[in-house]
Amino acid sequence: MKTILVTGGLGFIGSHTVVELQNVGFDVVIIDDLSNSNISVLNSITEITGKKPEFHRIDLRKKQEVKNFFDTNTIDGIIHFAAFKAVGESVQKPLEYYENNIGSLVYLLQEMRDRKIDHFIFSSSCTVYGQADELPITENAPIKPAESPYGNTKQIGEEIIKDTCKANNLNAIALRYFNPIGAHDSYKIGELPLGIPQNLIPYVTQTAAGIREELSVFGDDYNTPDGTAIRDYIHVVDLAKAHIAALQRLLNKDNKNNFEYFNIGTGTGSSVLEIIKAFEKATNQKLNYKIVAKREGDVTAAYADTTIANRELNWKTEKTLEEALKSAWEWQESQK
Ligand code: WQD
Repeated sequence: MKTILVTGGLGFIGSHTVVELQNVGFDVVIIDDLSNSNISVLNSITEITGKKPEFHRIDLRKKQEVKNFFDTNTIDGIIHFAAFKAVGESVQKPLEYYENNIGSLVYLLQEMRDRKIDHFIFSSSCTVYGQADELPITENAPIKPAESPYGNTKQIGEEIIKDTCKANNLNAIALRYFNPIGAHDSYKIGELPLGIPQNLIPYVTQTAAGIREELSVFGDDYNTPDGTAIRDYIHVVDLAKAHIAALQRLLNKDNKNNFEYFNIGTGTGSSVLEIIKAFEKATNQKLNYKIVAKREGDVTAAYADTTIANRELNWKTEKTLEEALKSAWEWQESQK
């Protein structure tokens, strides 16, 4: 059976992807530096699947550590999640973001090139589109100047991978995520934000749990039906399964060129107020919130055109927004 390296495999999307990889029979090796994840996730994954992934605590910014790993491990494919991902923080600390997100990517790709590891899946983001001119957003939408160093590392990362694959006849797929939310239906893994949550859904669940006083809705004067910003919220398990589909595409050599990219979302946009109402309905919890000023760098609306991903990856979302919100709440409750 093929062995897949999952970097950042103890993180939110990484851990859900490890579970789906094991479910379909892959052997999994995780590299994580635990800077934004918890070692307890390794046992949680093992409890869910009955198989303990091999784990290495490695800082991918250390070139020699990366080389040593590949000297002692035979890897058939790589799914690369490990990166810093807080948009606001990236504005304050750009060099840390470029060193970590770009530096570690370069070291991984050098090993891929030297050892002819031919299958690479990259965790990209819809932030590469900025505020798209047309909605829903297709893969042909122009890449806009990044609104943050975080978004820039995703744009630059895609370019580096494209050039590397072309020069060395390697094969890679970038998945441009919209907004991942929710938790595995075992409620043993989910989103574990360290400190004050930056993203909407963990802030919502922590407010409902009484950990946060009230949710601040960042702006209700956007050019949208109810004035609040619109996003495409996708269940993290559906997103994890998109990685399996992309990996199979490469393993089956169904890819049409060395570097491909796909929008991974539900295709439906929801405003912040719609999310609040859907959450209250799905969980029977009342949510305290107030309207405050817009957040710097937020776009008005972003939701995916999933036509190409559905067709080329033979993948589509299976879970509803209500299931995602309910699972986020059940996961929050399990953290008590
Ligand atoms: C969603 C909506 C906020 C918090 C980011 C990254 C993206 C990806 C997903 C990594 C927006 C509003 C939020 C709050 C609010 N991350 N909001 N009150 O900004 O769409 O995307 O996370 O890959 O790359 O850019 O997600 O969850 O922060 O915000 O009103 O307390 O909720 O304004 O409209 P975002 P988000």
